[in-house]
Amino acid sequence: MGRNMTAVTPMPGRGLHVTCLAVMVLCGVHLAVTLFYYLDVHVYTGQMMRRFGNFMESERLSIPANSTGPSSAGPTRTGSSTAVSSPPPLQPCPETSPLLVGPLEIGFSQSVNLEDVQKINPLVREGGRFAPVECTALQKVAIIIPFRNRLQHLNYWLYYLHPILQRQQLDYGVYVINQHGEDTFNRAKLLNVGFMEALKVYDYSCFVFSDVDLIPMDDRNIYKCYSQPRHLAVSMDKFGFRLPYNQYFGGISALSKEQHEKINGFPNDYWGWGGEDDDIYNRIVFKGMSISRPSGGIGKCRMIRHNRDQNNAPNPQRFNRISQTRQTMQHDGLNSLVYKVLEVKKYPLYTFIDVDIGGPGRPPSR
Ligand code: BGC
Repeated sequence: MGRNMTAVTPMPGRGLHVTCLAVMVLCGVHLAVTLFYYLDVHVYTGQMMRRFGNFMESERLSIPANSTGPSSAGPTRTGSSTAVSSPPPLQPCPETSPLLVGPLEIGFSQSVNLEDVQKINPLVREGGRFAPVECTALQKVAIIIPFRNRLQHLNYWLYYLHPILQRQQLDYGVYVINQHGEDTFNRAKLLNVGFMEALKVYDYSCFVFSDVDLIPMDDRNIYKCYSQPRHLAVSMDKFGFRLPYNQYFGGISALSKEQHEKINGFPNDYWGWGGEDDDIYNRIVFKGMSISRPSGGIGKCRMIRHNRDQNNAPNPQRFNRISQTRQTMQHDGLNSLVYKVLEVKKYPLYTFIDVDIGGPGRPPSR
């Protein structure tokens, strides 16, 4: 019987053993799962915190979100500062500026106060420099203005042109080249001086040569350079809003650095009014280039009325000189330019360069 009982009756200790085993297995699984989640959540949270920390730091330092700068440690100010300080690269400005407004009202009845002009052009830097902040300008343009005793005209020019040039999204500087002394005026030589002096300041690729008394009536007349030398003053009020003759290249023109150098710059030997622009036209044609112009509508300009300047009488030699451009341009121009800069002053809206260019038969002082 003892043997039978042993054979059919389950042992009470064995049932307990199985239950204990099951409970232990369950506890183990629970512990493992808990441990797994605990560790996972902490690692994940740590990563998130680090990421958030980096984000906050990069926001504070204006680092682009996809910056390739240090990730776990975050940007530091003590290490390499390039990732921190370099702003994202600007896109090139569009071919046509979206800021242009077209035709403009131009008048000269009210006087201009330069402090007011400064206030309405807060982005123009000392020396009359500007570059757009929203994009990289397509051209670096030096505006060269030959000058003597025309401060009132210059004020109008600055008042009208600074807003226009900014809307044209140009990287530009304004250079007023003042002929020192009382010798006969020489517009073309002053323009050559402006070309040379502006290049000492900045890596300009384009030069716009403008009379101080000419204001464009449409901001789509862009003060930049083209594949051919550009004439901008194509329909002036003074000439009844038309070209006085087909070869006319006076008032405002634009030449790239290469175009200007190709023609050996402008003539230095036209003293007094007239002829130098015709000589420049000849140079351009003799070097196989042609003139580019805006349409008559867009190229409208107003001239500030004034009496003839002193020491700028019509040059009686101009007709003779114009007939000899093909020969004279070889030796009269950038390759023969002699002058002496007496003073360079950076005003808030322009750079003023006072220069001794000599006079007819008088070389500049040394
Ligand atoms: C002169 C130019 C001048 C043009 C328009 C021509 O006779 O030679 O220098 O720009 O007239 O006035």
